[in-house]
Amino acid sequence: MAKFYTEPSRTFSEYLLIPNLTRRDCTTERVSLRTPIVKHGRGEQPRLALNIPFSSAVMQSVSDDVMAVALARSGGISFIFGSQSVAEQARMVGKAKAFKAGFVVSRSNLTPDHTLADVRALKASTGHSTVAITDDGTPRGKLLGIVTSRDYRDSRDPADKPIRAFMTPYASLVCGRSGISLPEANDLIWEHKLNVLPIVDETQRLEHLVFRKDYDAHKEYPLQLLDANKSYVVGAGINTRDYKERVPALVAAGADILVIDASDGYSEWQRDTIEYIKSNFDIPVGAGNIVDREGFRYLVAAGADFVKVGIGGGSICITREQKGIGRGQASALIEVAEERDRYYEETGIYVPLCSDGGIVHDYHITLALAMGADFVMMGRYFARFDESPTRKLKVGNNFVKEFWGEGSNRARNWQRYDSGGKENLLFEEGVDSYVPYAGGLQENLDKTLGKIKSTMCNCGSISIPELQREARITLVSATSLVEGGAHDVMIKETGLSGD
Ligand code: IMP
Repeated sequence: MAKFYTEPSRTFSEYLLIPNLTRRDCTTERVSLRTPIVKHGRGEQPRLALNIPFSSAVMQSVSDDVMAVALARSGGISFIFGSQSVAEQARMVGKAKAFKAGFVVSRSNLTPDHTLADVRALKASTGHSTVAITDDGTPRGKLLGIVTSRDYRDSRDPADKPIRAFMTPYASLVCGRSGISLPEANDLIWEHKLNVLPIVDETQRLEHLVFRKDYDAHKEYPLQLLDANKSYVVGAGINTRDYKERVPALVAAGADILVIDASDGYSEWQRDTIEYIKSNFDIPVGAGNIVDREGFRYLVAAGADFVKVGIGGGSICITREQKGIGRGQASALIEVAEERDRYYEETGIYVPLCSDGGIVHDYHITLALAMGADFVMMGRYFARFDESPTRKLKVGNNFVKEFWGEGSNRARNWQRYDSGGKENLLFEEGVDSYVPYAGGLQENLDKTLGKIKSTMCNCGSISIPELQREARITLVSATSLVEGGAHDVMIKETGLSGD
């Protein structure tokens, strides 16, 4: 006979945290959100930890190289989507890794034989007003000059004027030598009143550009997540089909951590994939998604470095209605976290959990952490920001960003939903949608992090492990849910006269 679970499957909105005594030392400035993302032994430092417990979803509409840089700069991690060619994904990983805080690979490049028309066209397509002029027009060619808008008169100069006739030539440029530190580069920028400092090697080959504004930005990101070479930490999604091609390319491109991205991860394919990675590479790999203790034990036995929890709770997800599988995110997380703790007691090995999908309100993140997650993965949350890869559109009077599921026809990510069948999606498990545009990532993160820290202080905790140990969590009745929002008052609409 089938096994029945007597408890209903619950979601985050059905729970609240009960405040604990707030000690005098519980202030938001003292809260640390640092959290491990790979397994480690008792008392050992994990090989990889985040400075904020956030990861962006392995989705075309969320995590590309731009998001990866932006989120690592804020202390979290992106897993660059795998539903693209191996070469394209490796290129994105490489690009994010090459983005040294303050040192950027030149994105706009031409040769001296190009013309002013080419400069204008490039500027129109990239928005960059600084163009590096190299012998072969590549970002790593021999630097021959620089063109900025100060070098030509837009209205007067003829379109066919060759760049060599108006660029600032190499001999007149102030350049830094490779190996220069950011403070040294900044000193040169200030001394010579520059907007951009090219960094070249001993053979005059261009390596990076340092912009004055980037240096300022760098100083604003105290939580940025860097590897030993001072590059941003970058993750990448893989599947259980083409991993023998994909993993070597991602490792070569510099990925720091991988995650097997699958709708249902309790499978022998995941075990095979982990085994292959562990016997050929030295790179951590997370696995999932699972929603119960059996799935957790299976993936941990296979060698997973972290385990991702959640089936059917994603904002764009229609898996539950299409297939009837899944579990309320809170119930899934509570059970898996309990099993993780048991495993830790038995073996002394701590396996971090990622709660993936279904975060609707900021407080859901705090609840997920309190229930035992070490970090969360979010799609909708990040899709709303400037840094997500999709178009910003105006629908009616509102700005929106496009956001589509990996199981939608638009993404065509059949590998994520693969059950060993044909190479196509028989039916959709995700929708194509819009989310309200919300501005830049950092300003939104600051607000969300402020709320999490404040709640942690209410709960008498200044670290995530402390919150996991000390939190008191209560179910809410359907009736008391009503009093959770503003109630029995008339909300003032903005725009009314007198506002
Ligand atoms: P969100 O944060 O609620 O938007 O959920 C994001 C999560 O939904 C992702 O990390 C995936 O685990 C999951 N997901 C992404 N695309 C799909 C889909 O098309 N169908 C079902 N789940 C999806």
